[in-house]
Amino acid sequence: MIGNWERLQADCMGCQNCGLCQTRRHVVFGVGNPAAQVMLVGEGPGEHEDEQGEPFVGRGGLLLDKYLAAVDLDRRTNVYITNIVKCRPPKNRDPLPEEQEACIGWLRNQFAIIRPKILLCLGRVAAMKLMKPDIRITKEHGQFLEKNGVLMMATLHPAALLRNPSQKPAAFEDFLKLREKIDQLGCDIAQ
Ligand code: URA
Repeated sequence: MIGNWERLQADCMGCQNCGLCQTRRHVVFGVGNPAAQVMLVGEGPGEHEDEQGEPFVGRGGLLLDKYLAAVDLDRRTNVYITNIVKCRPPKNRDPLPEEQEACIGWLRNQFAIIRPKILLCLGRVAAMKLMKPDIRITKEHGQFLEKNGVLMMATLHPAALLRNPSQKPAAFEDFLKLREKIDQLGCDIAQ
């Protein structure tokens, strides 16, 4: 497993599948434990992530880390965190549909190796791509949907919570639901 994982990561680092490769500083492959049973997927790297090569390291990432810690999860040990696109879209615009398509193969391969039991979509872009194209995240966040044997849930994007702090309690509820589901399924959560 580790051999495949390292090969996948090395291949991804050299990716030139779309134009985002021309402006990136780092490919942001992901962070965490590839043996985790819980996977989190955001939309794409921002400025800090592009600089550091790790997802969710800006202010939104700090908030995400707090929510994870509150339910005994941690970005390095017991979840795996990645994005729909692995390179930063200029000026943090949403990744274009063709950029998402060009990149999704990396995520599919990550998924095939990790084989998570639970997938949490961070924000609208990931939820639309992975759960359903017409998802209304403000209404449907916190609801689990089963797809190909994987339980998927969307929550509000940490950056949206920074813009709109009144939504924080609702997002926190989603993390409590995530924890409940982990316990219900008896997921093997490494410490
Ligand atoms: N926003 C995302 O969706 N992903 C990151 O890695 C950082 C910010």
